[in-house]
Amino acid sequence: MFIHLKLTLLLALTLDARGYTRGRNGNHEAVPHSRPYMVLLERHMEDKTTNYCGGFLLNEDFVMTAAHCQAKFFTALLGVHHVFSNNVTQRISVEQAIPHINFNRTDLSNDIMLLKLTSDAHFNKNVSPITLGEEGDGSLPRSCIVSGWGKSNKNTKYMSSVLMEGNVTLIDNERCNGEKVYCSMGGTRPAEGDSGIPLVCEGKAYGVASSSLRDKVAQLDRDLIMSAQCKLVTLMFALALHGQVYTLKIIGGHEAVPHSRPYMVLLERHMDDKTTNFCGGFLLNEDFVMTAAHCQAKSYTVLLGIHNVHTKSQTLSVKHDFPHKGYNATDYRNDIMLLKLNSKAKFNKNVSAIALAEGDGSLPSSCIVSGWGISKKNEDYMSVDLMEVNVTLVDEEQCPKANSYCSKGEAGPAEGDSGGPLVCKDGKAYGVVCASLKSKNDDARITAYTKITDYGEWINSIIQKYQE
Ligand SMILES: *[C@@H]1O[C@H](CO)[C@@H](O)[C@H](O)[C@H]1NC(C)=O
Ligand SMILES: *[C@@H]1O[C@H](CO)[C@@H](O)[C@H](O)[C@H]1NC(C)=O
Ligand SMILES: *[C@@H]1O[C@H](CO)[C@@H](O)[C@H](O)[C@H]1NC(C)=O
Ligand SMILES: *[C@@H]1O[C@H](CO)[C@@H](O)[C@H](O)[C@H]1NC(C)=O
Ligand SMILES: *[C@@H]1O[C@H](CO)[C@@H](O)[C@H](O)[C@H]1NC(C)=O
Ligand SMILES: *[C@@H]1O[C@H](CO)[C@@H](O)[C@H](O)[C@H]1NC(C)=O
Repeated sequence: MFIHLKLTLLLALTLDARGYTRGRNGNHEAVPHSRPYMVLLERHMEDKTTNYCGGFLLNEDFVMTAAHCQAKFFTALLGVHHVFSNNVTQRISVEQAIPHINFNRTDLSNDIMLLKLTSDAHFNKNVSPITLGEEGDGSLPRSCIVSGWGKSNKNTKYMSSVLMEGNVTLIDNERCNGEKVYCSMGGTRPAEGDSGIPLVCEGKAYGVASSSLRDKVAQLDRDLIMSAQCKLVTLMFALALHGQVYTLKIIGGHEAVPHSRPYMVLLERHMDDKTTNFCGGFLLNEDFVMTAAHCQAKSYTVLLGIHNVHTKSQTLSVKHDFPHKGYNATDYRNDIMLLKLNSKAKFNKNVSAIALAEGDGSLPSSCIVSGWGISKKNEDYMSVDLMEVNVTLVDEEQCPKANSYCSKGEAGPAEGDSGGPLVCKDGKAYGVVCASLKSKNDDARITAYTKITDYGEWINSIIQKYQE
């Protein structure tokens, strides 16, 4: 089906004073600073040249752009309208580029990237973030515009020196490659230099400009030009964690010493609705991972030996999942699950198992929780590096459910940390991060951990039966 398509990257051109062009392709100059989320991205390349992509501000720390805009390093320019104005601007360098892990340079699937800024953007009249659109009922978003500094005239070699914008109409076309992209056709469209700019519909960002497709329509012998914009809703999930009700994140913690917790597992959950999100887990031996039952998914990818989520290490799949038979999705009772790996984990300096506690009934002390969950309050993205936090367990009476440990206070796991281990003073695993609740008495935050020592028999029976 894609055989006729010729992909053209909307990669940036060089900027030049002569590039000042206006008013072609149905584009017109934007009202200055009417699109305060727009980012002009300076790409510094290996060969020491500089060129540009577009991007947009998601919050104080993150800019989104296309993965094919990758460069040696970047400078993000915020609050720009006229690129030669001295009036500018916040110039912030980029600390880390996080392309989608499945970005494919050949067919440009998953062409999306997050850039983490080295220092916070300062919001003002000319600089502020844009909200992401939601998929809604699956119909195409309407009243869409694109804005960018890309060339607005076919015959110029240079970018526009002022921000241009134009209306685009999305089309429903199966030739546009599939469920992860929006396509617009003809007329006004993003052009070279516009890679990474947002597709904005009714004030929210729905897509990232990626490429244009030229399709020779069989009998008509004319070119259809379509522009592909990566669908944010679909792709953000692999980068970001969104409001999983009872998945948890570490708040008030600090970065772990890399590879100091070699039993930690990042669990990619592939869901029925084709989205992907994450839980934590931990390695019990070469064949089994333990996590929470509420982390159950259609299928899984198990990532071992990682500290930074964008470095690759051992990647294994799961042969069987064994959520506890008594798991209750309403009150999170028996929230524990074993995953039997499809092939054996290879132990090394960065990958090894953790022993389970046997427990004498007393409350363990000096406990730590680690995970890649969200590390700041009101932050929508996962932590890139493994975080950890000390937690103090409180009396069982304060626990909302049986067979649990509980800790109290703001510091602790949060969204994305579900399924990770509670590890105490002897370095053994005592609990599985389960749920977060408000205390009835004093409104404090209580975190519940499934008490592993209460499940010894269940764990042994499964491991003995299925271990190879
Ligand atoms: C510079 O910024 C000020 C205030 O934001 C604005 O009034 C002025 O028009 C800008 N000048 C240029 C050349 O953009
Ligand atoms: C990238 O896309 C091409 C064309 O669709 C495909 O042949 C190739 O297998 C893909 N590469 C990866 C790593 O998925
Ligand atoms: C672009 O869309 C806006 C709102 O959807 C509309 O007001 C405006 O007239 C359109 N402009 C053109 C040139 O079609
Ligand atoms: C699950 O928990 C809820 C609330 O405690 C309870 O009402 C329900 O009966 C439980 N379901 C099962 C299958 O035990
Ligand atoms: C462990 O991780 C470090 C840094 O992430 C890496 O350089 C090293 O090669 C890894 N070691 C093994 C045995 O995988
Ligand atoms: C966390 O606990 C460890 C060991 O129990 C201790 O050495 C460390 O100082 C604690 N850190 C904080 C921030 O309380």
